[in-house]
Amino acid sequence: MSKIFQIAIIGAGGISGAHSGAAKASAGRVVITAVVDPNVEAAAKLAAEHGAQAFATVAELLKAHKAGTVTFHGAVVATPPSIRIDIVSALVKAKVPVLMEKPIAHTLAGAKKLASLAAKNKKLPMFVAYCHRFAPAVVTLKEHVAKGRIGRLVRIENAFACDLPGHKDKWFSDPKKAGGGAFLDMGSHSLDLLSFFIGPSKVAGSIFDYKWKGRTETAATVLLKGAKKNGPNINAGTAAVILSGWAETSRFTLTLEGDGGTLFYDYEKPEEIIFKDLVGKAETIAIESHGVRFTKQLVAFADAVQNKAKTSLATFADGLAAATLGDKAAKMGK
Ligand SMILES: NC(=O)c1ccc[n+]([C@@H]2O[C@H](COP(=O)([O-])OP(=O)(O)OC[C@H]3O[C@@H](n4cnc5c(N)ncnc54)[C@H](O)[C@@H]3O)[C@@H](O)[C@H]2O)c1
Repeated sequence: MSKIFQIAIIGAGGISGAHSGAAKASAGRVVITAVVDPNVEAAAKLAAEHGAQAFATVAELLKAHKAGTVTFHGAVVATPPSIRIDIVSALVKAKVPVLMEKPIAHTLAGAKKLASLAAKNKKLPMFVAYCHRFAPAVVTLKEHVAKGRIGRLVRIENAFACDLPGHKDKWFSDPKKAGGGAFLDMGSHSLDLLSFFIGPSKVAGSIFDYKWKGRTETAATVLLKGAKKNGPNINAGTAAVILSGWAETSRFTLTLEGDGGTLFYDYEKPEEIIFKDLVGKAETIAIESHGVRFTKQLVAFADAVQNKAKTSLATFADGLAAATLGDKAAKMGK
């Protein structure tokens, strides 16, 4: 039996709720013992929910850790990307394993810096929280492609889009703070997810759209081309299409089209995958909801740190690969 895995959450904003819920759903495997946020009310509120200690800065957290007045085995970094380099550097110096929210950084230079930090500290577990790798549908879709359910994969398409009018006035769409908009936010998930299927790829086309004057892009349409064979039924040249949006009708879908059929997953119908053969005859495949992905990801982090388990967690090198593709697509798309 693995022992309890204690974590510090750094950044008690929107996404910390998913990590908090994930810890609660982990049946005692993962426990939050510390929360850091300069917004002391947010830190105190989340800490109180878990019987954890609240801190205003990472320096205070690490001082208490060194003094032995708080214990944790890893940290989840859930701050905005623009301020993470110093935070992650301090955690690495203190030898604290890291699971960091996506994207790896808000600039390519930042991504390179963090990937290089991870490369220099190979023994320390460091991961980027590309949580869709842990959606049961994604795992099942990969298995179905590998066993030839849809023949040879011709095209994979991922839409992560919805209407987020509030983002117009948040750091998310501030070009200096965020570094990118809908594509960096939603599209970085897609870049990692599609690379998870087709392996390394090249950007073949990109078009960005801007709804808000002076702010980041609100939509992106990006085409990737697989660079090499990536397992059974996935050859070099496979097309991958990314549709990202902050100002459009909600769609969270993953479609895999093969020369022998199609597999379709709609995150808004979370417990079914639809298979259709070439004449359109449909079959429903029952699946556990993607809602479990944050818990599975957190437990994988615990297993990677405590048991040296091999997991599907994205490495910082994977984060840099997504950032490199993202940078190219952004330059082409503008
Ligand atoms: N995996 C997903 O599906 C998903 C979903 C939403 C957001 N995210 C990612 O999570 C990250 C955070 O997004 P969010 O929506 O939670 O943003 P947010 O603005 O709601 O929260 C960020 C929090 O970080 C805190 N913070 C700022 N500086 C800090 C510091 N020095 N130390 C500690 N905390 C600090 C802020 O006070 C705020 O509470 C982003 O990178 C975003 O892309 C991932």
